[in-house]
Amino acid sequence: MGKVLVIGASGATGKLVVAQLLAKNVQVIAIVRPLSSLQSLYGDHEHYLEIKAEISQVSSAQLAKYISQCHTVISCLGHNLSFKGIYGAPHKLVADAIKKVTVAICSLDRGIKTKVILMNTTGVSNLDIQEYIPLSQRIVVAVLRLLLPPQSDNELAADHLRVNIGKDHPCIQWVSVRPDSLIDEQEVSTYYLEHSPTSNVVFDAGRTSRINVANFMMRLVTEDALWRQWQGKMPVIYNG
Ligand SMILES: NC(=O)c1ccc[n+]([C@@H]2O[C@H](COP(=O)([O-])OP(=O)(O)OC[C@H]3O[C@@H](n4cnc5c(N)ncnc54)[C@H](OP(=O)(O)O)[C@@H]3O)[C@@H](O)[C@H]2O)c1
Repeated sequence: MGKVLVIGASGATGKLVVAQLLAKNVQVIAIVRPLSSLQSLYGDHEHYLEIKAEISQVSSAQLAKYISQCHTVISCLGHNLSFKGIYGAPHKLVADAIKKVTVAICSLDRGIKTKVILMNTTGVSNLDIQEYIPLSQRIVVAVLRLLLPPQSDNELAADHLRVNIGKDHPCIQWVSVRPDSLIDEQEVSTYYLEHSPTSNVVFDAGRTSRINVANFMMRLVTEDALWRQWQGKMPVIYNG
């Protein structure tokens, strides 16, 4: 117990999450594809353990073994922004992984709630709280859903936690983190959290730096009050 499992750890945001957890002395188990190893960065770090595997090939039973050592699972998975990444298999990369994580957690039946943090997007609405969605955004998102498989993947992943797991699950608590347009910055800066997007996510998107997303995820792990504030919710994160 006491570790955090990070999937999608080799991604632009996932790497920053790993770095920030390690900086806080949190023990990390990272699942990364063999060609995306972070071993050269953290191989010697006493708190870093790497599993080289494709998440879609890891069985629920194997995943349960890793999760049995962890109190939290973080997913920073996302489709690579290439033709193959967007239109190739696995089409339900994120949703399938998050479902497998929840099945694995339930199989442990260990009497404590495991925390799950999902990197999601403002392109997915929180239907629990009747968000205002401008008509223009509704139309564009509906078209994206048809044309871009990652949109429906992100929706299915968030809906799995929101609808199937819900807010009162015996084994799982979760937070879906929704950045707006992602940018790269070198340092953590001021950021703020909202229950819902405050601007049109298609035509007037705000900016969120990946390092701020990573900082918020790390703080969800290390700050109990912040976790209690957002668990079962879908916070939107904007740069200040
Ligand atoms: N772009 C935006 O403006 C924006 C805004 C809001 C939310 N988001 C969401 O944020 C999430 C993460 O963004 P990011 O920029 O940090 O992502 P990223 O750099 O593309 O990282 C994606 C991660 O997923 C892994 N991955 C991709 N395809 C895989 C596969 N088939 N099997 C196993 N692992 C796979 C990658 O592994 P490899 O390193 O091995 O490729 C990497 O670890 C995405 O879900 C995206 O939808 C994006």
